[in-house]
Amino acid sequence: MTAKLISGSEIARQIREELTGETARLKEKFNVVPGLVTILVGQNPASMSYVTAKQKASKEIGFHSIQENQSETMTEAELLALIDRYNRDPKIHGILVQLPLPKHINETRVLYAIDPKKDVDGFHPVNVGKMMIGEADYLPCTPAGIQQLLIRSGVKISGAEVVVVGRSNIVGKPIANILLQKQKGANATVTICHTGTVDMAFHTRRADILIVAAGKPKAVTADMVKEGAVVIDVGVNRIGMTPDGKARLCGDVDFETVKEKASLITPVPGGVGPMTITMLMMNTVKAAKLAAGIE
Ligand code: GUN
Repeated sequence: MTAKLISGSEIARQIREELTGETARLKEKFNVVPGLVTILVGQNPASMSYVTAKQKASKEIGFHSIQENQSETMTEAELLALIDRYNRDPKIHGILVQLPLPKHINETRVLYAIDPKKDVDGFHPVNVGKMMIGEADYLPCTPAGIQQLLIRSGVKISGAEVVVVGRSNIVGKPIANILLQKQKGANATVTICHTGTVDMAFHTRRADILIVAAGKPKAVTADMVKEGAVVIDVGVNRIGMTPDGKARLCGDVDFETVKEKASLITPVPGGVGPMTITMLMMNTVKAAKLAAGIE
């Protein structure tokens, strides 16, 4: 079997079109413009490109958007004061602090400082807790994007064996949580594998839906995949440069061999990546509506 591609770029385009329409409606009917601030501390090249893409998308959709580029030497107190300013700014509905932060800044303290109502990344413990009990206002963006890719590609999630490789707070733990909820687009049987798992292939070979966020190129090879599985590759590994100076990317899945076994597979780039940004946009529209009491 040769897998069909799940085009994250195409699905993201559709959702962004929906969000552009909804943003225009909010402006026209309620005079509400969703506002997003993205805060970048330092010059990590990957973070710079993510933040630029988030800003570009938010402008295209019609948001009020602000980019804060702060120096690597910014103190934690200065960052907390900046967050506090945006917590109190009524024009801003979403605050995103790009991770990772420089080592001298405590990430947990920063994430706790964001008003949970403006936490469009879904990283504040209040929002993590709400997700856990199936009451989320904002799902974290990459896992929410993965769920949308599955739903919009017609994949049956209820009752499926889902295996997640990776247990990060940003992807592995939340996607497992989202897909096990007793809700539409979920209700799966979920296993999480990680660096302490003894026999990874034993688990991955049982997966109807295999979600790989291992942070390691080619962590999943064809012998680890069941014939006909749906494979979602969350990895973004930089493996040099293209001739036109862009970063050359590969995922955590050995795409060339796994695509011969899977029924559906996401490419890297053009798979999960565009969905992450799109879900941030969706959360920002939701934040603006919640702030204004609009349904
Ligand atoms: N760094 C890597 N992924 C993310 C994300 O989804 N949000 C933020 N804020 N930082 C990240």
